[in-house]
Amino acid sequence: MAGTGKKVTVVGAGFYGSTTAQRLAEYDVFDTVVLTDIIEGKPEGLALDLNQSRPIEGFETKVVGVTTGTDGSGYEATAGSDIVVITAGLPRKPGMSRMDLIETNAKIVRSVAEQVAKHSPDAVVIVVSNPLDEMTALTAMATGFDKKKVIGQAGMLDTARFTNNVAEAANVPVSSVTTLTLGSHGDTMVPVPSACSVEGKPLSDVLDQAKIDELVDRTRNGGAEVVALLKTGSAYYAPSAAAARMAKAVAQDSGAVMPVCTWVDGEYGIAGVYLGVEAEIGAGGVRRVVERDLSDSELTGLKAAAAAVRAKQADVADL
Ligand code: LAC
Repeated sequence: MAGTGKKVTVVGAGFYGSTTAQRLAEYDVFDTVVLTDIIEGKPEGLALDLNQSRPIEGFETKVVGVTTGTDGSGYEATAGSDIVVITAGLPRKPGMSRMDLIETNAKIVRSVAEQVAKHSPDAVVIVVSNPLDEMTALTAMATGFDKKKVIGQAGMLDTARFTNNVAEAANVPVSSVTTLTLGSHGDTMVPVPSACSVEGKPLSDVLDQAKIDELVDRTRNGGAEVVALLKTGSAYYAPSAAAARMAKAVAQDSGAVMPVCTWVDGEYGIAGVYLGVEAEIGAGGVRRVVERDLSDSELTGLKAAAAAVRAKQADVADL
């Protein structure tokens, strides 16, 4: 039974966007999921298909597909959204870094963000386009929204990859593993071993340091590993799961604490940058950043991530 009466829009009906829309619809907590794309007929077709799955999966949320034009046509259908998930932009090809997408995706994300601000001025915006930290900063700039209302999805995904890697290495269920990654969604990602545990025991009691280092490395390259295998496009099952959970936390005003890309304003001695940290998520976006004790090397890593992202975020203002 659609419970929150809320409307969520997913911009971009590629694999990331369409699987996010599917997950959001199947939660059955929204009134409406709007799915948009610039490819004529694609969002309408996917919406029809999703709606036809409702009797089987047993959800009432209505999915609306709409083709949008570069002139902003079609965005009327998104008006008054409580939440907007921006997946628009190109994914990586094998061998590309997320940063290689910055110029192309900045133009796309900026124009989407302007339409979102025009039609859904009260929305919480969840950004997933890459390079993630920079596109989140750009969306905050282009919408002019309070920074608490513009959040990037990365930490949930990177943490899920870390957890999966640890669970496989320790041969235990994923549910008995806790991990955490902070920092950027890129080379300066900061996996946080001090926050990791397996069946309640510190990670370092369960795996040796060489193995932990290997898993940290695999986590940092988790997206590229999938891109290399797929050869066309990037991951979407785990990324959409993460984005959809964030949107659900906003819709339900749940107060869940999640690693997300958010504006950091003094926490950890870092200020004035969008960065991956833990935050409490509610109806207005980020309620507060949750600061935890980090080891010296983890804090150094987080500060290095902040410096790297800050430099690039200044560039996107001009793109
Ligand atoms: C990934 C992309 C979506 O990490 O950033 O798979």
